[in-house]
Amino acid sequence: MGVAVSPFQIDSRVADFIDKPRKMLIDGKWVNAASGKTFPTYNPATGEVLAQIAEGDRADIDAAVKAARKAFDSGPWSRMTPSERGKLIWKLADLLDEHVEELATLETLDNGKALTIARAADVPLAADMFRYMAGWATKLEGTTIPISVPYTPGAQYLAYTLREPVGVIGQIIPWNFPLLMAAWKLGPALASGCTVVLKPAEQTPLSALRLGELILEAGFPDGVVNIVPGYGETAGAALAAHDAVDKVAFTGSTEVGKLIVHAATGNLKKVSLELGGKSPNVVFKDSDLDTAIAGSASAIFFNHGQCCCAGSRLYVERPVFDRVVDGVAAQAKKIKVGSGLEPETSMGPLVSEEQLQRVCNYLEIGMAEGAKAVSGGKKLGNKGYFVEPTVLVNTKESMKVVQEEIFGPVVAAIPFDDVEELMPRANDTVYGLAAGIWTKDISKAHKVAAGLRAGTVWINCYNIFDAALPFGGYKQSGWGREMGKDVLELYTQTKAVCTRL
Ligand code: NAI
Ligand code: MG
Repeated sequence: MGVAVSPFQIDSRVADFIDKPRKMLIDGKWVNAASGKTFPTYNPATGEVLAQIAEGDRADIDAAVKAARKAFDSGPWSRMTPSERGKLIWKLADLLDEHVEELATLETLDNGKALTIARAADVPLAADMFRYMAGWATKLEGTTIPISVPYTPGAQYLAYTLREPVGVIGQIIPWNFPLLMAAWKLGPALASGCTVVLKPAEQTPLSALRLGELILEAGFPDGVVNIVPGYGETAGAALAAHDAVDKVAFTGSTEVGKLIVHAATGNLKKVSLELGGKSPNVVFKDSDLDTAIAGSASAIFFNHGQCCCAGSRLYVERPVFDRVVDGVAAQAKKIKVGSGLEPETSMGPLVSEEQLQRVCNYLEIGMAEGAKAVSGGKKLGNKGYFVEPTVLVNTKESMKVVQEEIFGPVVAAIPFDDVEELMPRANDTVYGLAAGIWTKDISKAHKVAAGLRAGTVWINCYNIFDAALPFGGYKQSGWGREMGKDVLELYTQTKAVCTRL
């Protein structure tokens, strides 16, 4: 395939990895698609084909689910102690640490994000997630419950609960943080003793496939983790509908989230969803304005705005509106947009041609609706999927660019007059994933945090993630929480055992 994607020298292990068509991982073996088909993945910085990938479809999903079923029902995994499981997960975290450069480079080539960011955030956060979850493997426990049973007077019982793994899990992940989303999904499933069929996004399968190699190297038994790349409408849909899958965990668009719910009705598999957002980021006039400006810029521009929790609605108290908007626009203009491999790049290309079209379409709609760009507003260059970091003003809640998830570096700035008037406007969205608040008034900060209908509220910071902190959505932003101990609820089920003594 050749690597002619950048004038920069890329790691030779990475060059070798993408040089050969990549296979899928089923039952501990790397195999071609049953159909023999492959699909291309592209380098978004150039639009050129990066690698060919085995194209999974229904037959491959079926084989992978069978392998996961066998590993769960009767494989060595099902007999391992929690401590043994925890050690394997910890070892995987160590292997991620040992391969930071290689994984970060794959992420940059496939997704477009700046290598400096993939290296500092994506890979270490993924390793952290596995390490945090490794610790949970030995700490999932039930309770003993004193019971009264009114219709058996005088009888004595010993009643307790067991927390057992849900079973075979189908996991469908997006392209914005390919490796990290795989870690968020796999970590709790493995800690709980589940087995998995993972379908990475068709735009960014590479890091998950390299992770699959590290999973084998760590020593996980065959069939515990199966990785089937392919398209959503085929492989993804087959996984979501499969009758031998006990639960499906999905991250992606709200639109597809709804399809997943429908697909799950056949066998009533459990469903968890981490979906879109249109998060309000609120700057009060009593905040430290310099910090609030820098933080608000990074709230929207981090990962090119391709974050489900991006602070895409910037509410600013009227007396400081111009200063904050000018400040965020000045930051936007300073952002160095370029190939993620260049060391000085702080924003790479969007992930795909389709995503570029989607974002540019929203920019046009916004202008037609009367919005004005004080920075950016258009596509950048003729090669690759670059777009200018954009700050829109003259926006109001009725506009599409204020209601719909753009998933690009585009923020709509809106003034407000006081807290009472702000709250219903900030909550005027079908989403409820995250929110930001910038103020020095502690009491106001916590009152506003309580009033925001969102799964995460950041005060005087934004985009702060930790494996211990639960993350997920209110309203149409999803079902369930990822990370923290909350996520383990999604991968375990309770068995009540009652003994008459
Ligand atoms: P998408 O929701 O179509 O893709 C996410 C994952 O779902 C991918 O692995 C895809 O292959 C799979 N998928 C797609 N259709 C499926 C189906 N019918 N059954 C099962 N799996 C299916 O997202 P897409 O099209 O890449 O992006 C569209 C918009 O979605 C973005 O502009 C953004 O607004 C939103 N999005 C939100 C994400 C989040 O983190 N919440 C991540 C990615 C996209
Ligand atoms: Mg889609």
